[in-house]
Amino acid sequence: MRAFFCTIFAAALLVAGCTKTKLSDSASSLPGRRVFESNNCTRCHGSDGEGGMAAPSLRDVSARLTKAQLAEYLRDPDAFARKDERIGGMAGTYPTRMPGFPNIAPADLDLLVDYLHALN
Ligand code: HEC
Repeated sequence: MRAFFCTIFAAALLVAGCTKTKLSDSASSLPGRRVFESNNCTRCHGSDGEGGMAAPSLRDVSARLTKAQLAEYLRDPDAFARKDERIGGMAGTYPTRMPGFPNIAPADLDLLVDYLHALN
């Protein structure tokens, strides 16, 4: 039991220590932020994409996924996860998987992907 609580405490410290919350003004003023908020990405990824218990941080996602890959992933994360070892390997890390967003209008999806690439 004690080991269990120590593990939880260590994990909480790790999350707190790695969570960067302040977003640059240039990123937070982008129009894609509105798309991020209106689709409730914030519910799992945090108000500034900092991540948390429900989902990973998106703050350096531009280093991992191109804009084209992001657009494809957001439309159908399950299909993407089947062919991408890194994302497929996240299964079980969080309480839910990433939901798909097939209904975001193409223009909004472009804005959203620009916003995601500006997060750092
Ligand atoms: C219900 C919670 C939830 C919501 C809502 C959600 N996500 Fe996710 N997201 C996740 C989880 C969990 C993962 C990790 C992959 C997995 O396990 O499926 C993830 C992964 C991602 C990734 C890949 C990160 C990486 O390191 O490659 C991106 C990009 C992403 N989400 C963007 C978004 C955007 C943009 C929205 C809103 C349109 C959104 N997410 C809404 C839970 C969520």
